[in-house]
Amino acid sequence: MDVSLEEAARLLADGQVVAVPTETVYGLAAALNQPAAINQIFNLKGRPSNNPLIIHADDVLQVLPFILEIPKKFIELTQAFWPGPLTLVVPIDEERVPQVVRAGLPTAAFRIPNHPMARTLIQKVGPIVMPSANISGRPSATCPGHVETDFGEHFPVVDGGTCGRGLESTILFYRDRRWHIIRLGALAAEAFADVLGYVPNILQPERGKAPICPGQLYRHYAPKAKIVLRPSIEDCQGVVVGFSDRQYPQALRVLNLGPITKPESVAENLYATLRQLDHEGHHEVSVDMNIPSTGLWETIKERLKKASGT
Ligand code: TXA
Ligand code: MG
Repeated sequence: MDVSLEEAARLLADGQVVAVPTETVYGLAAALNQPAAINQIFNLKGRPSNNPLIIHADDVLQVLPFILEIPKKFIELTQAFWPGPLTLVVPIDEERVPQVVRAGLPTAAFRIPNHPMARTLIQKVGPIVMPSANISGRPSATCPGHVETDFGEHFPVVDGGTCGRGLESTILFYRDRRWHIIRLGALAAEAFADVLGYVPNILQPERGKAPICPGQLYRHYAPKAKIVLRPSIEDCQGVVVGFSDRQYPQALRVLNLGPITKPESVAENLYATLRQLDHEGHHEVSVDMNIPSTGLWETIKERLKKASGT
């Protein structure tokens, strides 16, 4: 159900949950100072309580009071990428960030979204927490219709149209005097080279150790259909998720992600395409994984792998 920005601000201040557009994906928002609404987010999504939430702010000055010690290059990263699809995980003053938000961790995740509607709401009600606006494990929502599919037509949504980036923010984590990627996202690893002086490496969950990014443990971005990843174009058969500038002679139906020359367009279409598979009721789908290993393609490949459960 469409709500105006004024109505959304009133609902948030009143301790309710509202879906809000960002440049990456839609978020399920609660005000940081409304613990009951934050708990409600976990219930609505079916989200495990050990999976922390990102705090969304409007200004870096709103973030600094939470931080215990400002890591090297933190300010430079915020200057280069905020507002935008970068989330920074830093050690915080535990008194200031509710336990439920950070799942008991001594760190919290922050970002300033680059979307006028999200920003207006934060200006009106203060920092908000927002996970992606999908049932846990399902593809994220990139338009109001996706939110409606997951949470029903009466759920309040601020309509900001389709999200331009279409992939969640990249998450950086500071450890051993370096920044590391703990979730690939809308900013490619190479994007950080100028600011950091190095390309951050990707930290994979280690066996037997507590995960650094709890969300990476769970199956994600998954449609109901069985996703079969096909490294070679010739093996794509039946229902195929592929690219508009390729031919799939064995296909009965092709769902196009966009041209292989335009990773940004593919990113924007990705979750809508995965959701379309469910809408059409397919049981098994071939995905063309003959994809480059550079830039944003790394994120797209990772999402498709997670969607296939591998
Ligand atoms: O683009 C985005 O980041 C979107 C929009 C709505 O802003 N939000 C989003 O939130 O993707 P969510 O909850 O779906 O994913 C947040 C991820 C989870 O994998 C969670 O485990 C991780 O961030 N995270 C949050 N706080 C953390 C912390 N303190 N340490 C490590 N990982 C953290
Ligand atoms: Mg999510």
